[in-house]
Amino acid sequence: MIRTWRLDDRRQSLVLGSRREHLAEVIYWGPRLPDEEDLEALYGAVAIDVTGGMLDLNPELSICPEATRSFPGQPGLILRHQNGEPLLPKFCFEAAEEAPERLVLTYRDETNALTYTARFQIDDQTHMIEAQARLDCEEPLHLHWFSAPVFPAPQLSDEMIDFAGRWCGEFQMNRTPWSPGVRFRENRTGRTGHEHFPGLIVPARGATNARGDAYAFHYGWSGGHKMIAEELPDGRRQIQWGHAARMETKAQKSFETATLYAMYSDDGLNGCAIAFQRHLRDRIVTWPKPGTPRPVHYNCWEAVYFNHNLAELKDIAARAAALGAERFVLDDGWFGDRDDDTRALSDWEVDARKYPEGLTPLIDHVHGLGMSFGIWFEPEMINPESNVFRKHPDWALGGEDQILGRNQMALDMSSPEVRDFLFERIGAVLSHNEIDYIKWDHNRVLPMPDAAQTRGSYALLDRLRTAFPLVEIESCASGGGRIDFGILSRTQRVWLSDSNDALERLKIQHNAAIFLPGAVTGSHVGPRICHTSGRVLDIRFRAWVAAQRHMGFEMDPRELTEEETKVLTEVTAWWKANRDWMYTADILRLDSPDPAVIAEEQLAEGGGRFVVFAGKADTSRQIAPRPLPLARLSPEALYRIELVNRDDAPGLSRGSPLLKAGPVILSGRYLMSHGLTLPWSFPETMWVIEGVRL
Ligand code: DGJ
Repeated sequence: MIRTWRLDDRRQSLVLGSRREHLAEVIYWGPRLPDEEDLEALYGAVAIDVTGGMLDLNPELSICPEATRSFPGQPGLILRHQNGEPLLPKFCFEAAEEAPERLVLTYRDETNALTYTARFQIDDQTHMIEAQARLDCEEPLHLHWFSAPVFPAPQLSDEMIDFAGRWCGEFQMNRTPWSPGVRFRENRTGRTGHEHFPGLIVPARGATNARGDAYAFHYGWSGGHKMIAEELPDGRRQIQWGHAARMETKAQKSFETATLYAMYSDDGLNGCAIAFQRHLRDRIVTWPKPGTPRPVHYNCWEAVYFNHNLAELKDIAARAAALGAERFVLDDGWFGDRDDDTRALSDWEVDARKYPEGLTPLIDHVHGLGMSFGIWFEPEMINPESNVFRKHPDWALGGEDQILGRNQMALDMSSPEVRDFLFERIGAVLSHNEIDYIKWDHNRVLPMPDAAQTRGSYALLDRLRTAFPLVEIESCASGGGRIDFGILSRTQRVWLSDSNDALERLKIQHNAAIFLPGAVTGSHVGPRICHTSGRVLDIRFRAWVAAQRHMGFEMDPRELTEEETKVLTEVTAWWKANRDWMYTADILRLDSPDPAVIAEEQLAEGGGRFVVFAGKADTSRQIAPRPLPLARLSPEALYRIELVNRDDAPGLSRGSPLLKAGPVILSGRYLMSHGLTLPWSFPETMWVIEGVRL
């Protein structure tokens, strides 16, 4: 018997089919099909031929490929009995539950007493498909690998784009040509990691940021993941995503993958980016105070590090407020005897040497300046040099002889006792002080991957959020080491990178925008001499790069000259005046003809206005600036374009491009096909252009 199902939004259709009671396979995924499409005919048409050297039928590339069905590639599920013997599942159809935007398929393996369930959900507004798989067993079993429902990848695609990175260099794009065999990315560090952001884009041949077809994936899990992108001998391609292999350390009777987010875009990589940005902001993140503007942030880390002095911090807070800051975050160093990073993690009590009257005098001062107050924790960690470790050495995860990371160990978050302790200590700090923000850090990898650890962290976050629903949380892990939709369903901001170098940041946030909206992406104005790169950057560039996202400051404001103070105050005021519409704007990465220019357009909901940030990351090869084509404007509409910071043009810009003189009115068609011709500029500077539809 043939069965077919379809899920549609206005831009895409996902069609699944199954024969002979076998597991379903995705038989079509791409542009929206007509309602009248005969899906049985389509299923027949999709079948590939058989020739010499092939089996007599092609095994289906199902949502969970099974070795028992002669599938020639990587299976979707690898299990063992408790005695270590392999168990080879073979599923048969049991039930389908269909609703317009939702499909749940259940399959049963009677011999092995297993039930497999795949859930698909499509969002008509954001174009996101969510897919998740679950396995129920009658006997506890060992799980080695379990893929979320498997999607095919297009064959008209020459390469795939995935993401690598490092501390202070997150979200680097890798382009790998497709070839027969497997591209395998696995993160065994126990946290999402700088090194392997769980995202993949499969562009069809010729796709750019603004044009063409592209497919994109993100696995929403914070514990380390595995991706398999495989081209089979017959040319078909499959994409699998799941937790890293063998992360379940105990035999269990049920297993669940995290949610896989996937979508097709007919609008280039930007079509994928918009779907991820909107879905994350509007469906995944839960905002403690919806509708309130994102406050300008001040974080004291790079100003004082562990050297907390109340009078100095008060002075810094006052200066930050004068610049325009609306939230003050007290970073690492306020608890235990934490004078450096060798000690005190987990001793979550205010250091009476630094704060003899507790945090209240600082918090009151900060509130008096009109700012809210946030505080740093690193809940999952413990230093062997701490009171808590001396009392509970058994709370640490991993062996005694393990290699430390930043002098610390992870706590065993699967232990309810550990979680209760953390809930009580963090809860006490939040209850006794007026705090409405936590920066939640995680500065080392785990000694081994363990899914129970991640579930424990999620449980603690969930419990704290229930008890303190108005507290916002920022996910930080030495910068961008824990950024994914799993953690972001429990937090509201990410510390994208420890690099406050505006040049590095420009690149990192440009690529991260494929997945992250501005509303959740922290970006701070760093010190004049960057602490992580040694680079010296002008305040204008530092300020505008921070103004591209959720703006903040992290330098010591006492270092600012009068001129720097003036520039920073002005750019901050610009950000405040624009943040409301930028909150819901789409960030579109522009196809810059000059590789030295990294540019984006933030287009307001409804398309009535936009801002372009064109960052000059390098010197150009050619002498004059190349025109920069904009994206997603209305071709027939006219736009009033203005170079916001035209006064920044250097003396070496000797000509008279119109934008240097004042606003210009141009059509969407011209702006998208020819592009904006900007004045000549130095490297490490930014042009900011506002546009309003007339
Ligand atoms: C790493 C973070 O990324 C920094 O911003 C800072 O919070 C330090 N940890 C504090 O130890």
